[in-house]
Amino acid sequence: MFWDTATNAHGMAHDPFKAIVAPRPIGWIGTKGRDGSRNLSPYSFFNAVGDRPKMVMFSSSGRKDSLRNVEETGVFTASFVSRALIDRMNASSAAVPYGTDEFDLAGLAATPAKLVDAPYVGEAVAALECRVTKVLTLPDMHGNETDSHAVFGQVVGIHIDEAVIRDGRFDLAAADPIMRLGYMDYAGMGPVFELRRPNQQT
Ligand SMILES: Cc1cc2nc3c(=O)[nH]c(=O)nc-3n(C[C@H](O)[C@H](O)[C@H](O)COP(=O)(O)O)c2cc1C
Repeated sequence: MFWDTATNAHGMAHDPFKAIVAPRPIGWIGTKGRDGSRNLSPYSFFNAVGDRPKMVMFSSSGRKDSLRNVEETGVFTASFVSRALIDRMNASSAAVPYGTDEFDLAGLAATPAKLVDAPYVGEAVAALECRVTKVLTLPDMHGNETDSHAVFGQVVGIHIDEAVIRDGRFDLAAADPIMRLGYMDYAGMGPVFELRRPNQQT
């Protein structure tokens, strides 16, 4: 089948777009407002987008509290979501009034970052400390502004729980990530396998 997204007449009960572009890692975004209030929310429009320097991006569909906070303070954290934290991650996505502390709401330790003034999830096996480099309101193909707002951040500090370092590597299987699919679906990680690039020795 094929459909033109201008009409989006796919004929299915739910739009499959996010199920196709899957799995997506979840960035658990920790921020503070100018008023000092804490915020924590999951974003699956999230990924690493560069490594020289290390850059990540999350995108807000509409103007949400995390976006407001990064515009106010210029910093955020992105905590890693392990399977053991899935219910608390989900709880932190509740639509609550601005200023509600989702760390408290979800029963998580709001841990102050070392290099930026934002909290991260103390229970997470890894977390990134980030400084905002750009907030980009995404233009559509005609150059018109949409209501999607991509926040780019440079990673200035990285936390890893020593328990998930094995043989000098971040052991992703031990970290047990959950990933966002389409619909209401999530997935865990399958077996890890190695593939060398052509001419790559190490
Ligand atoms: C797993 C998961 C992933 C999500 N990803 C996004 C996303 O990428 N962009 C977005 O705008 N909302 C996303 N949401 C919804 C937000 O988490 C939700 O709207 C939240 O209330 C926003 O909080 P905030 O206003 O405190 O930033 C996601 C929710 C869940 C449970």
